[in-house]
Amino acid sequence: MRAVERSRGLVEAGRYAGLVGAAAVAHPVESVERVVERIVEWQDLRRRKWQYDPTEAWEEGVRRLIGAAPQDIDVFQRVWTNALDDVRGRGLSAGRGAFGGWDDGDVRLGLLAWWCTRRLRPEFVVETGVARGLTSRVVLEALERNGRGNLWSIDLPPLIKKELSAETGTAVPPSLFGRWVLLVGSSRRRLPELLRQLPRVDLFLHDSMHTTRNVHFELNSIWPKLRQGGAVLVDDVERNHAVADFRRSSTDAEGIVCRAEDGRALIGVFVKGRRPTGMMMLPGQATGRCTRR
Ligand SMILES: C[S@@+](CC[C@H](N)C(=O)[O-])C[C@H]1O[C@@H](n2cnc3c(N)ncnc32)[C@H](O)[C@@H]1O
Repeated sequence: MRAVERSRGLVEAGRYAGLVGAAAVAHPVESVERVVERIVEWQDLRRRKWQYDPTEAWEEGVRRLIGAAPQDIDVFQRVWTNALDDVRGRGLSAGRGAFGGWDDGDVRLGLLAWWCTRRLRPEFVVETGVARGLTSRVVLEALERNGRGNLWSIDLPPLIKKELSAETGTAVPPSLFGRWVLLVGSSRRRLPELLRQLPRVDLFLHDSMHTTRNVHFELNSIWPKLRQGGAVLVDDVERNHAVADFRRSSTDAEGIVCRAEDGRALIGVFVKGRRPTGMMMLPGQATGRCTRR
């Protein structure tokens, strides 16, 4: 059984190397980046997982950070349903692993994006990781209701299936294109150049490559540009150590970790400009206790 799995793994690795080789001709920097990220992802998987302790009363936690939930949560629910209908209406499946192994956004991440966008009324929103664009749709619809603001989204489509590139952002209707800039490429390549052009960032959403290396990079790039009172949403924090490291090193971030709707993934919510109060408990931080999953 192990030998079969190993040979299957080798075939997959060979196929992946072939695709990387082909892509290297078109985008050499990104191809190197893809390989590096796959290696560090593998290292992350072998590393002891950080044991986050999610805030069960997450709505109260978010209210303390951002302010009360907006009145129009029912509108968010319609937006989310419409976004899923639009994806499925194109004959595509939606959900966990549906985008070439990548997950479509979780509804709680969508709700948090709606909450932050409606409450903070941002002008400059940046997100990494688009896939079919569920979170992009939510942010854009909320900006539209605010009557101000734009979204810059960065996405590096998967290599494995060419047609996936054409599916990127399918949940975003043309009527919302006026507030949207979609930058194709890795966040490592596209984020620094984007941040040089923007005066500041009011809201950031990470949902791209969830390695410790990449999340460190994105958080360290965004944080100095984030306005006081601005917010950061980080999906799938349980997959790496980056949020725990960020929490330990930052002196001006307050935040919580809450469960995604599926009860499996964890989402980090941070706001800049407040002293840490310890409301986000990280048991491993004090004791060094970790769990392997
Ligand atoms: C989890 S999905 C995003 C889901 C999306 N936010 C939604 O609401 O449905 C992650 C996306 O990030 C892209 N991605 C992977 N590595 C990336 C990188 N280094 N930079 C930017 N995007 C990346 C994947 O191809 C995929 O489209």
